[in-house]
Amino acid sequence: MNQPEFDCLSATYEESLRDPIRDRFAGVSPEFFHLRKRDLIRQYFRREGIDTHKLNYLDLGCGKGELLSLLRDDFASVSGCDPSSGMLESVNGAVVRTQDDPAGIPFHDAAFDFVTAVCVYHHVPPDARLALTKEVRRVLKPGGVFCIIEHNPLNPVTRLIVSRTPIDDNAILLPASETRRLIHAADFVLRREVFFLYFPQNIYRLIGRLEAVLSRIPIGGQYAAFGRVS
Ligand SMILES: C[S@@+](CC[C@H](N)C(=O)[O-])C[C@H]1O[C@@H](n2cnc3c(N)ncnc32)[C@H](O)[C@@H]1O
Repeated sequence: MNQPEFDCLSATYEESLRDPIRDRFAGVSPEFFHLRKRDLIRQYFRREGIDTHKLNYLDLGCGKGELLSLLRDDFASVSGCDPSSGMLESVNGAVVRTQDDPAGIPFHDAAFDFVTAVCVYHHVPPDARLALTKEVRRVLKPGGVFCIIEHNPLNPVTRLIVSRTPIDDNAILLPASETRRLIHAADFVLRREVFFLYFPQNIYRLIGRLEAVLSRIPIGGQYAAFGRVS
C-alpha cells in the first residue's frame, strides 16, 4: 500500500489546520469544533430516547482521537481506526487499529452499535465512498447508527478555509445530497440531518439556541447526517 496521506501530515497536523478565520471562529477554545460534534451526537441519542452507556462506538478515520476522548464516558466501549498509524499514535484511552486497506474496516461483522466518520469522506475518492459506507454497515449491529459529519460546500466560508488548508489539498467536498444518497444506497434509513456552525464561538455562547432553528437551512459550515441500519 502507498504511504497513507496523513502519515506525512500527522506531525504538523494541528499547525496545518490553523487559519485566521478558522481560529477566530473557534475563539478561545480550540476544542470548539469537537465539542459541537459531541453535543450533536448526544442530542441525537437523547431525542431517540437511547441510553448510550451500553453501546459500542467506533470512530472511523478517528485521526488523533479528539472526539473519542470527549465521548469516552458516554459509551460502554470506544474504538478508532484510521489508515494513518502516525495519526493514531496520539489516541488515548480507546482501542485503535490501523486500516492497512483504506477501503476495509479492521473489525468483525456487527461489532458496533454506533459509528462516526468525521471529516473523512472528503478525503476518500468519490468512487470509493459507497464501498466504504457498505463496510460501515457490515460492522454495525441491526438497528445500529452511522453518523457522517462533513464540511458543507454550500457555505462560502467553509470553501474558503478548505481552499487554503494544506491538509485539504486533495479534498473533494461532498454536498449533503451526496451523503444522503450514500446513506440510502448502503441500506440505511436517514433519521436526521442537521446543519450547524453558523456562528463563531463567541456569538454561539450568546445565541447558540438559534442554531437549532437554523439547523434545516443547508448553509451551516458543516452538516451531520444520521442513518440507522434498516
Ligand atoms: C481531516 S482528518 C479528520 C480526523 C478526525 N476524524 C477529526 O475529526 O479530527 C481525516 C482523517 O481521515 C482519515 N482517512 C482518510 N481516508 C480514510 C479511509 N478510507 N478510511 C478511514 N479514514 C480515512 C485520514 O487518515 C485522517 O486521519
